[in-house]
Amino acid sequence: MANATWSAVDDYVAGLLAPHDEALDAAVRASGEAGLPSIQVSPPQGMLLHLLAKAMGAKAVLEFGTLGGYSTIWLARALPEDGRLVTLEAEPRFAEVAGGNIARAGLSGLVDLRVGPALDLLPELEAEGAGPFDLTFIDADKVHTPDYFAWSVDRSHPGSLIVADNVVRGGTLAEADSDDPTTAAQRRLHEEIAADPRVGATTIQTVGGKGYDGFTIALVGRSAS
Ligand SMILES: C[S@@+](CC[C@H](N)C(=O)[O-])C[C@H]1O[C@@H](n2cnc3c(N)ncnc32)[C@H](O)[C@@H]1O
Repeated sequence: MANATWSAVDDYVAGLLAPHDEALDAAVRASGEAGLPSIQVSPPQGMLLHLLAKAMGAKAVLEFGTLGGYSTIWLARALPEDGRLVTLEAEPRFAEVAGGNIARAGLSGLVDLRVGPALDLLPELEAEGAGPFDLTFIDADKVHTPDYFAWSVDRSHPGSLIVADNVVRGGTLAEADSDDPTTAAQRRLHEEIAADPRVGATTIQTVGGKGYDGFTIALVGRSAS
């Protein structure tokens, strides 16, 4: 589902509030030329991630799902010089493109790009004692979003934020009898968050150039009650 008005508003907002510079333009261009799917966050969403990271003074960021590094660039640009962003990408070809885009943006010193399925990489991060992370952005294979979320809560501190993208899935989130495993995973995410006293969260529906979807934003260590 997509709507020309949603795209026009995205373009209007992006033009004024989230304009691309050369590095972001180049990242989108190089990703397209390399045949990567155009499924990165929109510019306004990239700016939202950037603002969240900036507002909380994030120094340690974890990202699930790098693709061509577009959201990585928005997030890494919010970090101080001694910050660090770990980003996990399963597809080596995508990671190679992302590495080039991140380097072109001058962010290689801040970004630790790991290649492999995230569930295989997490024990590695655990063994290294990685975290706690101030901000985690979950945007990889959607069927594992609840698993990534659970892992991330355990590697957070009071005040950490976790953002999970694409949880509304065209509204199927509300369908209790959905047999789509990705929708079922988003429902499991919501049920597990609701049962976890360590987390306060909400989900915001979104429309835009990428259609109708939404994201969950969770604050660790301070439940809503
Ligand atoms: C929606 S895209 C990420 C977009 C990116 N965050 C952005 O906005 O620029 C999802 C990415 O997750 C990657 N992915 C899929 N399964 C994965 C897994 N098991 N572990 C890590 N990454 C995975 C895909 O290859 C794809 O690049």
